[in-house]
Amino acid sequence: MYPHIVSLRPANGGVNNLGFGKDTQNQEYLLKAGAQVCIAEFVGAALCEAVGIEHCQPKVVTMTNLDGAKVHVFGSVLEPSLLNFNMRDIAEWQTVLAMMPRSPFFTKVLAVDLSLGNDDRHQDNWLVRAPSKDSFQHEMLAMDFSNSWPVCIPPHHPRKHPAPNTWRFVRLWSILGITFDHEHFRSICAKISSLDSAWIAGVLTPLVGIWLTHSDQQQIIDWWNSKWQAHLIDVINALETDGDWQ
Ligand SMILES: Nc1ncnc2c1ncn2[C@@H]1O[C@H](COP(=O)(O)OP(=O)(O)OP(=O)(O)O)[C@@H](O)[C@H]1O
Ligand SMILES: [Mg+2]
Repeated sequence: MYPHIVSLRPANGGVNNLGFGKDTQNQEYLLKAGAQVCIAEFVGAALCEAVGIEHCQPKVVTMTNLDGAKVHVFGSVLEPSLLNFNMRDIAEWQTVLAMMPRSPFFTKVLAVDLSLGNDDRHQDNWLVRAPSKDSFQHEMLAMDFSNSWPVCIPPHHPRKHPAPNTWRFVRLWSILGITFDHEHFRSICAKISSLDSAWIAGVLTPLVGIWLTHSDQQQIIDWWNSKWQAHLIDVINALETDGDWQ
């Protein structure tokens, strides 16, 4: 029923993945294990979709473990035609960003990351599509929600991330030429806050029986009903009331 991985190769970066796996149809995926991580990746992708952020495509795939048992893992469909550059190098980022039209992409991803308590949006956690015959421009893609809710339950408070990576990257924005779009931030947060528990239930339903039980799903729905909107107010306040965040 799910694509089955038959071969593996290491990925170029990242410490939490299993590498790239190829299925019987020769489709490749970046693979990750661990139920919470797999769920977090699906939730992150769904939230990006809901607010119009280009993102990697999450799939459930299977592979055979060392004991010979078939296990379900997360597979991010391999994006072709990516721009290969050193994301740790600020000058390379500046060159790449200078080739792109200004867009609220980074502001939107920040709204999603703070909503999900993602403290791991470091310099390497992005993908850039190179221009192709279908698209004449570089395009940014969001990926890697492995540290996001529900890996951390509840989501980290936006100003109290355990890891510094998300905010450290935000503090580089002005050097890189990225501008914070306050209006977009507010409107994306409003949109995120309006996603009701039927929305999160729909995201999780295909994963029930794989990485969570009905009762786990119900707990998440209950949390969402009682806490999601209050958390989004913290997210908005994080950038409205504290002037030194950039
Ligand atoms: N869908 C994809 N298509 C192409 N390359 C990808 C895709 N997903 C991930 N990658 C590549 O694989 C690397 C590792 O992926 P990812 O960042 O999700 O894993 P990770 O091990 O959790 O990383 P981290 O160390 O940041 O936690 C990325 O830096 C990127 O280069
Ligand atoms: Mg990563």
